[in-house]
Amino acid sequence: MPKPYRFIQVGLGLMGHAWAHTIMPRLIQMGKARPVAAVDLQPESFWKAQQGLGLPAEKCYTDLERAFAENEADFVIIVTTPATHELVVDIALRYDMDILSEKPITDTMQSTCRVYQKVKAAGKKMAITLSCRFDQDMQTLERAIKSGKYGRLNYVVGRFTHNCRKFGSWGKFRHEIPDPLLIEGSVHHFDILRAFTGSDAKTVYALTWNPPWGEFAGDSTGMVIIDMLNGTRCMYEGAKANACTYNGWHNEYFRAECEDGTLELHRRWLRVMRDYGWNHPLTEDLPLEQQPVWTNEWIAEMFVDWLDGGPPPACHLDDEIQCAALLFAAVESAHTGKVIEVQEFLRSHLNAVGTTPAPATV
Ligand SMILES: NC(=O)c1ccc[n+]([C@@H]2O[C@H](COP(=O)([O-])OP(=O)(O)OC[C@H]3O[C@@H](n4cnc5c(N)ncnc54)[C@H](O)[C@@H]3O)[C@@H](O)[C@H]2O)c1
Repeated sequence: MPKPYRFIQVGLGLMGHAWAHTIMPRLIQMGKARPVAAVDLQPESFWKAQQGLGLPAEKCYTDLERAFAENEADFVIIVTTPATHELVVDIALRYDMDILSEKPITDTMQSTCRVYQKVKAAGKKMAITLSCRFDQDMQTLERAIKSGKYGRLNYVVGRFTHNCRKFGSWGKFRHEIPDPLLIEGSVHHFDILRAFTGSDAKTVYALTWNPPWGEFAGDSTGMVIIDMLNGTRCMYEGAKANACTYNGWHNEYFRAECEDGTLELHRRWLRVMRDYGWNHPLTEDLPLEQQPVWTNEWIAEMFVDWLDGGPPPACHLDDEIQCAALLFAAVESAHTGKVIEVQEFLRSHLNAVGTTPAPATV
């Protein structure tokens, strides 16, 4: 496949705007990617592809099938709502394309496993843009934990709290779907917890609900306990209907308790506390790491470099199927009140579609 890699962007909503205006223009300028078409059900969104990607009006489609039939491309970028991801994957595979998709892989475990089976059977490349794990603050903390400077990791605590209680304040569809906190929010934090602990999940227990003032059809608030395969533990608080946005997107709280240091990240401020006395920890600020780009811009670049023969980005499908398993096991736990064995949950769902997962990370 010659560079620049040609792509079709499907979805020009809120996040589609970011893909068209910020994420892909950098790669287009670098000569690594070239847009050939964009698709959205709503023609009033086409201006985003025209202004951001420089596509002419006739390359903006409402009909998915026509867009793929009329434009040869190397990969698709999926930025539609989660319940529609599988149908876009199906079309992309029919046209022999690789796939860069917004999180979550899809909106149910069954559909996620079908996507996994189909992509693996077709031998195509797929990565999921779980962008938060690739942000500067999260990467700095992950690298600090893994540096070994602070000893062995014991457990991690995470917090994500918002005031998005009014209908539509977190994008309309999230107020209408089941389990919005877990499926549209916590999926990022589960991925971060997997990265921090360097392990996939063994068991998960989730308690979720929606307070009376939360204008959500599903649960907007939750507490989750995760036991990782390597023996580390995680505790997570997520809330979208609180009185204030204390640890919102890109400002989350994570505390990694290591043997020789407490690493605390709060609203992009990272510090380590070490102290063997009483109640007066010695604190040291840790500067955030620097590199040209983070989050989706970095993932998109790693993805096209993968198409070009480079290594896969960490968020490739075989890795992210584990994040999906943790996500939907948490949903199952929230619905049943049971502790869910995540690896068994994943195996049984993949077996049902005739495949098996890659080995878990321990
Ligand atoms: N990584 C992140 O930080 C981040 C942030 C926000 C959203 N997202 C993800 O991006 C995706 C889109 O979210 P959003 O907030 O942009 O939603 P949105 O509702 O604003 O936009 C979705 C768009 O998809 C279009 N669409 C739906 N079905 C379609 C179909 N069959 N064919 C063509 N177009 C179709 C809709 O018309 C709409 O314009 C979701 O998967 C979401 O989880 C990721």
